[in-house]
Order: sequence, then C-alpha cells, then structure tokens
Amino acid sequence: MKHTHIIEAQQFNKRALQEILSAADHIRERAERNLPLDLLKGKLLGNLFYVRSMRTNLSFDCAMKRLGGQVTPIDFPEEFSSELSGGGFEDTIRVVSSLVDLIVLRHYQSGSAKRAADISSVPVINGGDGPAQHPTQALIDLYCIEKLKGGIDGVSIAFIGDLLNSRTVRSLVYFLAKYSGIKVSFASPRALRIGEDTQGYLRENGIPYGESVDNAEELQDIVSGADILYLTQIPAARFTAHPEDYARSREIFRIDRELLKIMKKDTYIMHPLPRDYELPGEVDGDPRAVYFDLIRYGQFLRMGLLCLVLGVSAD
Ligand code: NCD
Repeated sequence: MKHTHIIEAQQFNKRALQEILSAADHIRERAERNLPLDLLKGKLLGNLFYVRSMRTNLSFDCAMKRLGGQVTPIDFPEEFSSELSGGGFEDTIRVVSSLVDLIVLRHYQSGSAKRAADISSVPVINGGDGPAQHPTQALIDLYCIEKLKGGIDGVSIAFIGDLLNSRTVRSLVYFLAKYSGIKVSFASPRALRIGEDTQGYLRENGIPYGESVDNAEELQDIVSGADILYLTQIPAARFTAHPEDYARSREIFRIDRELLKIMKKDTYIMHPLPRDYELPGEVDGDPRAVYFDLIRYGQFLRMGLLCLVLGVSAD
C-alpha cells in the first residue's frame, strides 16, 4: 500500500481493507505492550485544511506525533497564499508536496482529493472533500464495528439522520458493500433521503437494504433489529424553507430512553460527531453508546494507515 492515495471508499477491495484494519491492530498491540511507537521518526505530515476541523485535524496531528513524526499545519491556505488570485489549488499541492512526506487534505469541494492526488508527488489522504467522502472516518467506523461485533460479515446496520449530505455515511456504505451478509436500513426525513448513487452501489453489489422515511413506528422496528445504529446530525439549516418539517424530524430522529429500552443488549450506537439533539446527554452513560470510544479506535486506525502509506511496517 506504499504511496497509495486514500481518496474514496470504492478504491479498496476487501483484502486491502483487512490490511488497513490489521495495521491498526498492530499499532494497538504495540501501544498496549508499551513497545516503541516511533515508526515514523523523521517523516513530516502536511495537514492541509481548507475547512475548519477539530476532530480530523487533531486526530491526524496526534497520530503522526505519537509515531515520532512531525506535523506542519496549513490552515486555510487560500487566505495567505496567492491561490485565489492566481496559481490555484494545483500549485498549492505542487508546493506542499515538494516539502512534506504526505498530505492530509480537507477541502470544501467534492473531488478535490482526487485532483490533488493526480499531481501530488507524495501520498494524499482525503480528510473530507465537501459532501462527497470521508474515507478515514469510515475506516475508523469499520474498525470499531469489527472490534465490537467480532467481525464485519453478517452485520446489520441502520443509518439514521441526514443521509443525503453525510460523507461518512457514503464512505461507510461503500466499504460495507465489500463484505458478505451485510444488511442495511436507512431512516431519514424525506428531504434528506440516502442518495441514488449510494443505493445504486448497494444494488450493484447485491447488498439488501430497506428505507424508511419520516416514520417513527418504522424507526422503532429498525432500532430493535439492527446490530449497529449509525446516527448523523440533522442540521436545521437544511429546512429553512420548511421549519415545520424540522420540528417533526427532531421528534422522530433521536435516541431517547424509550428507544434504548427496545434496543438489543449488543446493539451499539455510533456517530461521527459533532452531535445535536439526536443524541441527548442521557444516552452517554449507556454501555451501548460508543461514539466517544470511536476516537481511541480512530487513533490506532489513523496511525496504522499513516505507516502503510509511507511503506513502514507496523508488525
Ligand atoms: C466529521 C466531521 O466533523 O467532518 N466527523 C469526523 O470527522 N469525526 C463528520 C462529517 O464528515 O460530517
């Protein structure tokens, strides 16, 4: 996987995914056994963020530093480079890739990670490109599912929330489609239904899925049957023309004590964060609420991935 760009979920087959998850396991074992972790000493990561980010930026920063490497943060490059007046994005990538060993890119435009990868002389990791994909967050989700459920094949997962605009949902669905026996349910407000591209990918890969729209009763059935609940935020801004629909969504798409009661004991609640009303604080104490545990899994996963793309073995 040395020098592979990490751009979108479709680029990986199951074998490559398992290689990434194993690298995360190797890092975790090293950390737990207090073995040296400075595998990337002397390497430099350019954290190129065109858009504000706390979790992804910090997580890559910590991952690289824990591996003994260094990080150069490049925040909002358009504001202090000539990118907007001339030169453009491509020149920024040429400059940055001449100076660092790999780039993590977050950008507001779909397809920007691919554009960067086409000209970069070092590996590019997509840290979120507009509404399109966020493959490393979805790899973390995949790793978390594997650890919690003892494997990924055969898992039944329900995606709940703003499914139309969630890049983490898209990336994760594309990853899951590589596994066998997966069952998927989608539950969302009508205006935020899962995109046709994602549904088409599931059909092509023979993954059965169901969809429920604006329906509290169906949501109960979905919640009680799934192994994993994957929630995303439903931003009020999506409903400016129809505030009454937002009020209705707030009533339906939230985990509360009633839904906790009907969930199976070994169903886990995941969320990429940031969260809003869909996950009230009262859920946090439930042992099935694992959204903050994801962050620790995420460290191991991103550390393993950094090693892989730089061609350094974590075994
Ligand atoms: C994502 C984010 O904040 O960009 N969360 C995360 O990286 N942990 C959520 C998203 O992509 O929508």
